Amino acid sequence: MTTRTGDGSAGDVDYGAIGAGYSSYRRPDARIARFIAETLGDSRTVLNVGAGAGSYEGALRAVTAVEPSESMRAQRPTRLAPAIDAVAEDLPFADGEFDGAMTLFSVHQWLDVEAGLREMRRVTRGPVVVLTCDPDLVRDFWLYRYAPEVLDTEARRYPPIGQLTAALGGTSTIRTVPIPLDCTDGFNEAYYGRPEMLLDPAARQACSAWSFVDDRVRGHFDETLRHDLDSGAWDEEFGHLRSRPAYEGSLVIVRAVP
Ligand SMILES: C[S@@+](CC[C@H](N)C(=O)[O-])C[C@H]1O[C@@H](n2cnc3c(N)ncnc32)[C@H](O)[C@@H]1O
Repeated sequence: MTTRTGDGSAGDVDYGAIGAGYSSYRRPDARIARFIAETLGDSRTVLNVGAGAGSYEGALRAVTAVEPSESMRAQRPTRLAPAIDAVAEDLPFADGEFDGAMTLFSVHQWLDVEAGLREMRRVTRGPVVVLTCDPDLVRDFWLYRYAPEVLDTEARRYPPIGQLTAALGGTSTIRTVPIPLDCTDGFNEAYYGRPEMLLDPAARQACSAWSFVDDRVRGHFDETLRHDLDSGAWDEEFGHLRSRPAYEGSLVIVRAVP
């Protein structure tokens, strides 16, 4: 059983409360878009589950989007088809209806990940593609120094990769997704070389993990990061990241075929 909020949100986050600025800070990144399109291969009809505002749909041919939150559906550009109001755990489609399926930055929010992935497998003939973070790697990032509670939250929320591949069945491949230095999709690691960006509260709000911590954690983060940027301590230790063209962190793409 999936519980829905007033906005329709069906995961562990209420996008009616935090979703308003999502599409301004979480703009699809062209390089990550190519990576996703390549992973989907020659799938023509593609299902996008937890589609949000439609990031990464633009480059694909025939997309059917599923998104439970009204606030997120409302942020979809008019050039994209409206999203269907449904949840991963109970997809309103026939067996094998799609060539391919994807779910991007979403599985960590589902109330029943295994049921949702089994549903995706059921309605898809070809590859099911999951863009997510590896919970074993999320703490290996400088942000852990300043806001460990945020990455502890992420490590707890992201399902282990083995759980995803087991639920999908068939054969899976897992690849690390390189994050470009000027990545336009503002998830936490996208700011690996631009720490100042995370001092913007609206940028943080576009990464749902920040909604799980309190003002004390946010205040401590703000104060200690500002201090280390002003003193040069951040640059001394992590400054090499400011010019690293791409970062391989916890972002991975799983591709499962039957
Ligand atoms: C971080 S957003 C990602 C949106 C979009 N895929 C993107 O890459 O920008 C996560 C999305 O998953 C959706 N979601 C949460 N739980 C869900 C569920 N059980 N079934 C389908 N979608 C869900 C949320 O409403 C939200 O739009």
